Amino acid sequence: MSVKLKVIGYLAHKDTLGEIEAILGRIDNVVLSMHLQGGGWSLKSIGDEELPDIIIHEIDGDREEDLQALEKILLEYPDKVTVYVTYKDGDMETMRRLMKAGVRDTFPQPIQVQELVGSVTKVLSGKRVRLSKAKGGKGGVTSFMSAKGGSGATTIAMNVAEMLAHDFKSKVLLIDLDIQFGDVALLLDLMPGNNVMEALLQPSRVDPVFLKALITTHDSGLDVLASPADLSPMGGISPEGITHLIDAASELYDFVILDVPRVLTSWTMAALRYSDPIMVVGQNNMSTIRDAKLIIDKLAHEGVPTANIEVINNRAMAKEGSVPIEKLKETLGIERMHKATNDFKTSVHSQNQGQPLQDVSKGSHFTKDVHALADYIYVLQNGEHKKKGGLFSGLFSK
Ligand SMILES: Nc1ncnc2c1ncn2[C@@H]1O[C@H](COP(=O)(O)OP(=O)(O)OP(=O)(O)O)[C@@H](O)[C@H]1O
Ligand SMILES: [Mg+2]
Repeated sequence: MSVKLKVIGYLAHKDTLGEIEAILGRIDNVVLSMHLQGGGWSLKSIGDEELPDIIIHEIDGDREEDLQALEKILLEYPDKVTVYVTYKDGDMETMRRLMKAGVRDTFPQPIQVQELVGSVTKVLSGKRVRLSKAKGGKGGVTSFMSAKGGSGATTIAMNVAEMLAHDFKSKVLLIDLDIQFGDVALLLDLMPGNNVMEALLQPSRVDPVFLKALITTHDSGLDVLASPADLSPMGGISPEGITHLIDAASELYDFVILDVPRVLTSWTMAALRYSDPIMVVGQNNMSTIRDAKLIIDKLAHEGVPTANIEVINNRAMAKEGSVPIEKLKETLGIERMHKATNDFKTSVHSQNQGQPLQDVSKGSHFTKDVHALADYIYVLQNGEHKKKGGLFSGLFSK
């Protein structure tokens, strides 16, 4: 299901209108409808037609009828319509009045691109989750990306996906977006007949039926959309292609897990903007932390909400890493951190045998940590635990 976000801009100045159009034009699935104040269109018409998801109103010499119309919308549709205001030399009186009425956020001019894109993206992902839940869907889209090559993003993504499918009895699709060096199929000992490029290069053909034909199923029940076996060029991949693919996947599956390569392009950004949470995987050492910081800042600049980003401190040692966890949170500006234990033996066995972690060593700390992550994502996106005494009881009893 392709979820569109309807955004109405109601601006006092042509320049602001152009600026907002240029900023929001970079988000896929946003449908803009822009109006100049005093130009014939009126906020009062809202409610008669289809409701917008967002209204962006510019404060400058506001007319009383507009303010009243905004107050009415905020009162009648507090959960459906998000109102933002932007201003240059905002009249404080008007600002206070609108904030009191329930305006979600204010954007002083010049508008900070990342802040506006981040806020709008957040509303879009909220709408996707709401609609998916309304249709009986369970989960959402989670991305894994390494902060530095070889941090363990693929290992954790793959095993979280396998556990969600097998232990949590959910419908899970793992998409290997590491187009050139993806190794999910190899690590799970699969022989895929088709791969993700077939979907990415033909966005208009992608629907649930087409998608199903490209998928390979692992013994655990996990469905995999593999990357190509050769070094395919990535030039033809578009943000639209990736969005269509995730749209179709979300329609079919409870959980969609993306293994995203560490390349920051328009299409990887589109994948990350679709995801909540985005798990950045790295080790606790200075050079990885520096790269993680660069990535997180760049993502924020591209409108990927920092609030959606979480960090997994992989290969953690018994002793604390080089940077204490509180310091790490502060440096990266990330609140939610997870830990996965260093375990060379289990990792190598799993890799060499083409088997998930829990099939080679169910009781290892690393396996348990990854299981805790699967549990975390299940609860985060599904909003509830499986019943006590159900699937988990005795899971790690060995
Ligand atoms: N917790 C861990 N303890 C020990 N080894 C690990 C751990 N997690 C991953 N590894 C090993 O680290 C190596 C790199 O892992 P992986 O391929 O998952 O990283 P990645 O971040 O996806 O790398 P890339 O940037 O190449 O995509 C693998 O050999 C894997 O088995
Ligand atoms: Mg990888």
